[in-house]
Amino acid sequence: MERKEFLKTLGGAAAFAVVFPCLGGCSKSEDSSTESATSDLPFSIDITDPSYSDLADNGGYIIKNNTVVAKDLSGNYVAATNLCSHEQKRKVIFQNDEYYCTEHGATFDLSGNGKNSEGSGGITIYKTSLNGNVLTISA
Ligand code: FES
Repeated sequence: MERKEFLKTLGGAAAFAVVFPCLGGCSKSEDSSTESATSDLPFSIDITDPSYSDLADNGGYIIKNNTVVAKDLSGNYVAATNLCSHEQKRKVIFQNDEYYCTEHGATFDLSGNGKNSEGSGGITIYKTSLNGNVLTISA
């Protein structure tokens, strides 16, 4: 193969790679970006692990496995999906003893009931159980 021919072939391959970068490889990542109604449950965390130190204080929270895990103002561990029912954004956090979506401001009480119009669809609440230092979150 002459150099010119080789470069022409290479150029075609490069153009193919640019134009069709997802062939055979992107469907999985696209699937993972699709919002799912469920979180990755059950899972457990060691509450003494420094990476979960935000759970040490009442009102603190972490996000793990698409789940908001919080310690409410009464000192109970609570959990909910971080997927907001308003426009299916994973933007729910814990604030002021309630679940709060940072996207448009939906609020949900600890039972999952919406507290304003954006939150009228409610939010899925999960169970928590503490065994020693191990907190388990389940559906
Ligand atoms: S997506 Fe949560 S309030 Fe709109």
